[in-house]
Amino acid sequence: MRLMLLGCPGAGKGTQAHFIKDKYGIPQISTGEMLRAAVKAQSPLGMEVKSIMESGALVPDNIIIDLVNERIASSDCANGFLLDGFPRTIPQAKALTDANVELDEIIEIAVDDEAIVHRMSGRRVHPASGRVYHEIYNPPKESGVDDVTGEALILREDDKEDTVRQRLAVYHEQTKPLLAYYQTLSQHDGIPHYHKIDGDRPVNDVKQAIYEILDAAEQRS
Ligand code: AP5
Ligand code: MG
Repeated sequence: MRLMLLGCPGAGKGTQAHFIKDKYGIPQISTGEMLRAAVKAQSPLGMEVKSIMESGALVPDNIIIDLVNERIASSDCANGFLLDGFPRTIPQAKALTDANVELDEIIEIAVDDEAIVHRMSGRRVHPASGRVYHEIYNPPKESGVDDVTGEALILREDDKEDTVRQRLAVYHEQTKPLLAYYQTLSQHDGIPHYHKIDGDRPVNDVKQAIYEILDAAEQRS
């Protein structure tokens, strides 16, 4: 199954991606996590993108497209994958088509801006695995500590309120046009199937809505 999660920063893509990859056995391709790993490793790529990410702007398309094309070519993606945070611009979406990548399902997780700003201050992440928590809505078993490894959780650099608002502005300007782009494609070609779900409800309810969609997709295939 080739799946894409769409939605604004903080909509819950990473949270749901971790459930999906475990249940359906497909790898998660998160461009945000790949870039954060490069920043942490202080690789040339990491040095190039660090300040861009901290500002809340998008990393240039050519860098991202190369990164994703290489990742999708890996053997573990042969039976499907889950795109989380890519594509983010129309040129990135077109690059996917140019690389002959066909998608089966697109799930848009819809949440209003104000709910996002409120949410983000409570996010905590485990940098090594990408596991995502929230102090109130999705707390770890022990405060400040990853459930699996017992390691410390951190607050992301770009989760300060001003930067979150900047990321939302960038989303509306550059990424939101993808919703209409894929809806039109879906109506025209019948594939990929496009599903819009309400992301402003408890994590488990969102998860169940996604499972229903993906179970039906598996039965169709
Ligand atoms: P990226 O890491 O992709 O960030 P993002 O899209 O801004 O999304 P987030 O990771 O912030 O949100 P999410 O939807 O994954 O939400 P989460 O599940 O964590 O990108 C970071 C940066 O990298 C970009 O700004 C850009 O610079 C660069 N970049 C990455 N990809 C790029 C690309 N393709 N092109 C160019 N540049 C790129 O949830 C958020 C919080 O809410 C958590 O605390 C969670 O526990 C909580 N939560 C989740 N679901 C719920 C719920 N239902 N109710 C209440 N709380 C919830
Ligand atoms: Mg994420």
